[in-house]
Amino acid sequence: MIDINKEIESLNWQKEPRGLYEPIEYALASGGKRVRPTLALIAAEAIVNGGLINGDAIEQTVPAALALEVFHNFTLLHDDLMDHAEVRRGRPTVHVNWNANTAILSGDQMLIEAYKLLAGVPADKLPQVLKWFNEMATGICEGQQYDVDFEHMSQISINDYMKMIELKTSVLLANAMRIGGYIAGATHVQLEALYQYGLHLGLAFQIQDDILDVYGDPATFGKTIGGDICANKKTALLLTAMENADAESKAELLQWIMATDRNEEKVAAVTAIYDRLGVRQTCEAIMEDHTAQALAQLDKLPQNSATERLRVMAEQLAMRKS
Ligand code: IPE
Ligand code: IPE
Ligand code: MG
Ligand code: MG
Ligand code: MG
Repeated sequence: MIDINKEIESLNWQKEPRGLYEPIEYALASGGKRVRPTLALIAAEAIVNGGLINGDAIEQTVPAALALEVFHNFTLLHDDLMDHAEVRRGRPTVHVNWNANTAILSGDQMLIEAYKLLAGVPADKLPQVLKWFNEMATGICEGQQYDVDFEHMSQISINDYMKMIELKTSVLLANAMRIGGYIAGATHVQLEALYQYGLHLGLAFQIQDDILDVYGDPATFGKTIGGDICANKKTALLLTAMENADAESKAELLQWIMATDRNEEKVAAVTAIYDRLGVRQTCEAIMEDHTAQALAQLDKLPQNSATERLRVMAEQLAMRKS
């Protein structure tokens, strides 16, 4: 079986100028769950029958898996700058440890490195993989723009939110699945099932990320609790609260949204409103619905040890702590 962490460690960042490459090394060595490359590799395995036959197809997925993880980490450098986030994976973010220019330029270089890795995909598969990779990258930029636009907008619906997170988060997971499956020779029906699994897993994943941003354990979450509340992010929790709130709670929420100083007080007050309205439970139900939709896709795939791992991954999502 491919050890994705070893593959990531084997990437060489001992290059000059250090100011460009050291932050890349820092970001990629700081851990992370490696969800996207893992999905690409398992998708390939699922198609080549649990990895028992044609191990080459799994090997051939490694460059794409690495490209997906380097790309994901690039988005995090820019995302943390845009979100004014100071901690990631329990360490200072790149723009805090260095500065904004570093997060921009090392991030740009990571994007280029991702494409250099992607070029290692078998030549006959590369045009299609590149097309999907580009679709995914554009989706993320569009999603990130909606995410920041929504910070300053008050009339956002849950539906708007779902479209936004599909772009900023799900398309990456969905394309990781589809690219892995394609390199392994999946049929059209299988590719669609892999894509839909990733899409619904991604929606559940982002809703869980929003929940953890408020209710995560600071010891394991690795990011600042309440960051979304301080930044006025239109999260699943806030939109559910706005939808379910009585007039009094709604007025109170709106007042806190306007507060720009008093961050600690703001996080405590908004969390108390969430608790009172039971929004965590409502969001968990939406998340579980998408997990179930992801799981349903697995019936359309070969039943083997890899599809079993996909089942376990989706089921364990709700229990993750970081
Ligand atoms: C963070 O992704 C960005 C989101 C889409 C929520 P992950 O939660 O996968 O971050 P790492 O890579 O494991 O740190
Ligand atoms: C994740 O959104 C989307 C991307 C990074 C593209 P978040 O802003 O919620 O991710 P975290 O919480 O900072 O990891
Ligand atoms: Mg962020
Ligand atoms: Mg963000
Ligand atoms: Mg988040």
